[in-house]
Amino acid sequence: MTVTIVGAQLGDEGKGGIVDLFGEPADVVARYQGGDNAGHTVVHEGTEYKLSLIPSGVVRGKIGVLGNGCVVNPRTLFDELDALAERGLDPDVRVARRAHIIFPYHRVLDGIEEDVKSESDQEVGTTGRGIGPTYEDKMGRRGIRAGDLANPDALREQLEYTVPQKRALAEDVYGVETGEEFDIDALYEEYREYGQRLEAEGMFIEAGNFIADRLDAGGNIVFEGAQGTMIDIDHGNYPYVTSSNPTAGGAATGTGLGPSVVGDGDVVGIVKAYLSRVGSGPMPTELAGVEGDTPGYDGNADPEEQELAEYIRDAGGEYGTVTGRPRRVGWLDMPILRHATRASGFTGLAVNHIDTLAGLDELFVGHAYELDGDQRLTVPATTERWAECEPVFKEFEPWPEADWQAVADEGYEALPENARTYLEYISDELDVPIYAVGIGPGRDESIIVEHPFE
Ligand code: IMP
Repeated sequence: MTVTIVGAQLGDEGKGGIVDLFGEPADVVARYQGGDNAGHTVVHEGTEYKLSLIPSGVVRGKIGVLGNGCVVNPRTLFDELDALAERGLDPDVRVARRAHIIFPYHRVLDGIEEDVKSESDQEVGTTGRGIGPTYEDKMGRRGIRAGDLANPDALREQLEYTVPQKRALAEDVYGVETGEEFDIDALYEEYREYGQRLEAEGMFIEAGNFIADRLDAGGNIVFEGAQGTMIDIDHGNYPYVTSSNPTAGGAATGTGLGPSVVGDGDVVGIVKAYLSRVGSGPMPTELAGVEGDTPGYDGNADPEEQELAEYIRDAGGEYGTVTGRPRRVGWLDMPILRHATRASGFTGLAVNHIDTLAGLDELFVGHAYELDGDQRLTVPATTERWAECEPVFKEFEPWPEADWQAVADEGYEALPENARTYLEYISDELDVPIYAVGIGPGRDESIIVEHPFE
């Protein structure tokens, strides 16, 4: 069977930890979208692994698949593989021949576009990994795919078609001088070698067939979504989004299996007990702000609110895994979760960071929005309208610090009562059961209420 893991908010909900928690019976952990923008942290036997491309299950000996919906930077792929091997692991990662390749010029163009947009405060705050420009080339039917790296003639021909266009874009449109990132010969040599290594190490697959064969043989598959619903290119807060579909539909198109296969299994929405956001865009329940990311924020917030935001940021480790930059933080936003539940059809929820909120003096949830004097329970479709929404808060009784290890050992009923009230409110509002509760970063610091594979 399959279990699809989807970020219900803005990314960084702790999906890696839940893949780890539920992934034990899985044979394959497959990513279906995104690339090396997806910072995820996995703690295994006391060691912390920070990955940005390789599926997190690989750390536990699962076969990791980068599906056709992914964009793959081979430099990152092999850096991460080599780093895991150096730490004594034997990672098994397969790459869909249909996945698109991120080239160095994509990263340069990502940076240029952000710079130009920043002149009019319109930058997205991307991770700078070349994600958008690579998906643009995919949709523009000029992308270079993983399978092409193993075919030197095709690779050369495609580079000769594409690179001069990219160079002209950088130089003639944006007026930026280009360097080795746009050098066809150098790119050809380097990327041809990646193709040889992918081939020699048996990493190429036809993802749909590969996964379908495993399923037919009775295997278990985890589809590991990266990023989150509100940065989905279709269902997110456009244009402050990533360029792929983290929502559950992406698990079908991004691996080559049918929606009925994905829908036959569980779809688990991963929720952080509060909210965090990297980059720009509206965030109605935000506490204080982060200069440069929060629209219009100049560093002057109510000092108490600022202190609370800093407390949550530090307690929750809210600094980007990929970029290291501080994340914006805020109260849980229920309209976002209602939107995510509908868009992906969650069958279960995993709520993380319940421990982070312990010991607060006050605790709120954005239950609804007020817009034009009316209350609404869902997220407006346009960014401008969303930015006009004022949160309608519901106050909850905070819960105290606890011996979280003991709680993890004893199970759900050992959670502080107020934390259970909070979780039950979320579950009731969304009409989706809680499958797991995260009370710390390690796999042992989680409570499984219902295991989707069991
Ligand atoms: P890109 O994916 O690098 O193009 O960035 C587009 C937007 O998605 C930016 O706001 C990023 O901060 C955000 N983003 C991309 N990947 C992640 C992630 O893994 N976690 C949180 N935000 C992300």
